[in-house]
Amino acid sequence: MNPPVPEGKLPAHLAIVMDGNGRWARQRGLSRVEGHRKGAEVARVITEECARIGIKFLSLFAFSTDNWARPKSEVDALFLLLKSYLRKERQTLIANGIRFRAIGNISQLPNNIQRLVAQTERATAPCSRMELILALNYSGQWDILQAVFRLARDAEAHKVRPEDITPDLFERYLVSSDAPVPDLLIRTGGERRISNFYLYPLAYTELYFTPTPWPDFTPEELHEALEEFSRRERRFGRIPEPQQL
Ligand code: FPP
Repeated sequence: MNPPVPEGKLPAHLAIVMDGNGRWARQRGLSRVEGHRKGAEVARVITEECARIGIKFLSLFAFSTDNWARPKSEVDALFLLLKSYLRKERQTLIANGIRFRAIGNISQLPNNIQRLVAQTERATAPCSRMELILALNYSGQWDILQAVFRLARDAEAHKVRPEDITPDLFERYLVSSDAPVPDLLIRTGGERRISNFYLYPLAYTELYFTPTPWPDFTPEELHEALEEFSRRERRFGRIPEPQQL
């Protein structure tokens, strides 16, 4: 494994699009669900590694609002997997000091999932080593629209004046606003796109794409991505320091 990246050079917030489960399974003659099952195991390993090395916020894109378009059997299987993940992982999360939070249109999820999500959030609320943000029935467009809707309501109720709407104020209406914006986004599985994950918060996020399908993603490759991130020069629209007059 690469030498560990010093904590000061780690992303405070790492976001991951866990893609490639289906193709991983097909290549092995397995069902897509088997790919997701292995994917959930990898999510656990990577979560523990992130907590161990000092990442403070980890976001995993587990179910997009766009995933409802998949065959019902696959959606049902993903929810079953999620249910067993939430049941099984609660104690591990607590043991590792990981606070769990779900973001997305949670009220549209099956009742038993909503209950498990709320229980897991409550049980892990005192944990403070790392925060795991599971994006469930989430999409970046949905997040922006729900923010606009709530902001419009507040403007209607004279709680906000239109001239006070700044990027800072708008960000507070996003469901992701409790966490800092992601510093690094990793997408596995070979595609080079955002696929409606965080949109507004990704403005200055560094992107890392790897062909490795999510079920084959390892802590070693996570360290490679972190190592590359630590060497990137982040300018946030400015020019490099020595060139300033
Ligand atoms: C993308 O692979 C993955 C998903 C749509 C779901 C992600 C879910 C998991 C990793 C399992 C559940 C996770 C947790 C944390 C409980 P894909 O199906 O789009 O793969 P493909 O592009 O190869 O078809």
